[in-house]
Amino acid sequence: MEFDTVIHGGTIVTPNESWQGDIGIAGGRIAAMAERIAGGARRVDAGGRLVLPGGIEAHAHIAQESSTGLMTADDYYTGSVSAAFGGNSSFIPFAAQHRGQSVDEVIATYDGRAAPHSVLDYSYHLIISDPSPKVLEEELPRAFARGITSFKVFMTYDLMNLGDRGMLDILTVARKHGALTMVHAENNDMVKWMNARLAEAGLTEPKYHAVSRPGIAEAEAINRAISLATLVGAGLFIVHVSTPEGAELVARARAAGLPIHAETCPQYLAFTRQDLDRPGMEGAKYICSPPLRDAATQDVLWRHARIGTFDSVSSDHAPYRFDASGKFAKGDAPPYTAISNGMPGIAARLPYLFSEGVVAGRISLQHFVALSSSNAARVFGMERKGAILPGYDADIAIWDAEESRIVTVADQHDAMDYTPFEGMRLTGWPVHVMSRGETIVEGGELRAERGRGRFVARAPYAVPATAPVVPEMDPATNFGAMIRP
Ligand code: URP
Ligand code: ZN
Ligand code: ZN
Ligand code: ZN
Repeated sequence: MEFDTVIHGGTIVTPNESWQGDIGIAGGRIAAMAERIAGGARRVDAGGRLVLPGGIEAHAHIAQESSTGLMTADDYYTGSVSAAFGGNSSFIPFAAQHRGQSVDEVIATYDGRAAPHSVLDYSYHLIISDPSPKVLEEELPRAFARGITSFKVFMTYDLMNLGDRGMLDILTVARKHGALTMVHAENNDMVKWMNARLAEAGLTEPKYHAVSRPGIAEAEAINRAISLATLVGAGLFIVHVSTPEGAELVARARAAGLPIHAETCPQYLAFTRQDLDRPGMEGAKYICSPPLRDAATQDVLWRHARIGTFDSVSSDHAPYRFDASGKFAKGDAPPYTAISNGMPGIAARLPYLFSEGVVAGRISLQHFVALSSSNAARVFGMERKGAILPGYDADIAIWDAEESRIVTVADQHDAMDYTPFEGMRLTGWPVHVMSRGETIVEGGELRAERGRGRFVARAPYAVPATAPVVPEMDPATNFGAMIRP
């Protein structure tokens, strides 16, 4: 067999094992794996370094307008380039529906933003804020059939919140058509009530953002979201879990055999609400929702990452610059309620997780691969990605586990003017990143052409047949037979 590329002499890591060997790549796919492979039009010497599946970034806001109309700083070029420098070979940003928009129109808009510019293979999670009957009955099923098999909904923000009935309706559609619902779980009324109390007391500096969104608001909403999904027998993916209570609820649901999935994000492992209490408006750099918590929370979230509560650790890259185009679009020193929410981190996600996870001894190398790539591929239906196995796309990142570097804004390669990870010393960096066998980043240089990335049609999400069913909804009963899809 003639190989386009042979990666030689690496330590190949999969979720199940690691071994010394070579990889033969042909036509963008992994064609052979063996102890020694001769030949190859190009030979890449891994030099004993780690050969991992390229990362899959499953949570990023790229070329996306917020519900108030503010555009992220990163487009599909800078966003995908930044992700590539951070060891990723593909990503799944959001395509957001605002109220009144058709899903078809949303997808067409994002295709225009992504296809000409992305250097990574990509798909979208939809964001649904307006689940009209037409959206539920026609537009969403059409999107699922095109391979966009997941979408996010919100339990918070007045312009996004679906309410419990809206959640039940859309979860039912997801179950029926084989899609996965992702949820931003925070109790909207608790947050609004806290906002009103804080405003009355004149407490509006950035640090009060964290006070306004207490952990119990997340825990309550996660519990409710799991209950709603369970009533209708749907799968659920809880995004950006930030609290011990939330993680415990997920762990308990999973132990009960429910099809509940979850992620946390590096910012909840790396920072605390103390970071919001910096001089002047500096704290605004750390405003995200749900907010940063405390040191004890970090330990608990790491434990849940270790024991398998989280499918993935995702960046929630939400790039709003520290200027009038981003954080301060509504003024120089606005109350926290008017500061754009979100932190950048698409390039720092994997170096942070490697350094603080693998090198620091908190998670195994195998688990790093699962959290960074393999689990996202499985849960979100990227059938040919997320593993180094024959037949899979040659999406590969070679990591130097010994390289130690200090994070700077410049080496994020995004469109941002800050990184919360600035100044952090991290050990273990991706040195050569491939997508479908093509080198996209090597030795700190970008090698990818704009627009080379391809849309990935994703497989449906199927609720496991073994998932328990609420008795009233059991298809064997009359009521269950009447309303179950
Ligand atoms: O504050 C954040 N995380 N902004 C991004 C939007 C979201 O809810 O994930
Ligand atoms: Zn060899
Ligand atoms: Zn969210
Ligand atoms: Zn997000």
